[in-house]
Amino acid sequence: MTISKERILTGDRPTGPLHLGHYVGSLANRVKLQHEYESYILIADVQALTTHFEHPGELRRNTMQVATDYLAAGLDPGTATILIQSRVPEIHELAMYFSLFTMVNVLRHNPTVKTEAAQHGFNDMPYGFLGYPISQSADISIFKAHLVPVGEDQIPHMELTRKIVRRFNDLYRPVLIEPRELISSVSRLVGLDGKAKMSKSLNNGIFLQDQPAVVEAKVKTAVTDPQRIRKNDPGHPEICTVFTYHKVFNAAEVEEIEHDCRQGTIGCVACKKNLADKLNRMLEPMHERRAVYEQHPDLVADILQTGTAKARKIAAATMEEVREAMQLDYFSKHQS
Ligand code: TRP
Repeated sequence: MTISKERILTGDRPTGPLHLGHYVGSLANRVKLQHEYESYILIADVQALTTHFEHPGELRRNTMQVATDYLAAGLDPGTATILIQSRVPEIHELAMYFSLFTMVNVLRHNPTVKTEAAQHGFNDMPYGFLGYPISQSADISIFKAHLVPVGEDQIPHMELTRKIVRRFNDLYRPVLIEPRELISSVSRLVGLDGKAKMSKSLNNGIFLQDQPAVVEAKVKTAVTDPQRIRKNDPGHPEICTVFTYHKVFNAAEVEEIEHDCRQGTIGCVACKKNLADKLNRMLEPMHERRAVYEQHPDLVADILQTGTAKARKIAAATMEEVREAMQLDYFSKHQS
């Protein structure tokens, strides 16, 4: 007997190359989960366009970039399915149906949408942006995903998804599944500058594609304990960015480092060198895989095309059920 695995759907907006924050926050976990769940990873290019519609070229480059980062990080295209949101038009059809019974005020009060609108300096906002959580609900429910691994900021979208699914099932027929979220334990990684979050726009990150010399140079710029001037001054790891990284990327040595830092027996230069070595060791297999894809750029495009086609079949099957439930199946053979 084969026991069918539960299904995962998750994704990212392709806004730039992925960095260590993405890796510890989600990517590493997806690489692990791909063996336990039937996994679909969606590159949310349409969702990214809700704020970047003036820059389609950048979006396209980023989509290929993110796909390459996924593969380099160890998502196995034979195991996990990587798909491009815009090329599954059924998602947009379902989003339209969802939008019929989702109230504007509910969207307006979504805390994540509010925060992002403020970040973008929106006074008024595009209809597509206000409604992107509906589209995200369609991303998830069209694949009948059980589990959605996401960061904390996505909880309002998960609550909306469940609400929409319940409403749909109630109004028409119980076709869709109420998904649950899996919140990542490391929800954000501090930036090299000690700011709350590693992010491309803050220019305080280490990208997965950074070469060893770049990683070393970037780690050298990381902020440490400002009170530590001489090498043997006692340090305060609790306020040191480099120590935060040791906790995440060098668990085996973290107690020793904490002890030596407090005693002033390890200096910041050596501590940073140690961290850079650990990071480079972690990134090395990713660079090896990336090199293969960079030598064969068609490979990434082929993987995306195959993944999207496979995903689209599932989406199309769900839409048959959805149209039937909504009595929109005008041309279906089974119609009486
Ligand atoms: N909103 C998510 C983000 O900003 C990206 C995303 C789009 C997503 N569709 C999704 C995440 C579906 C999980 C499931 O990171």
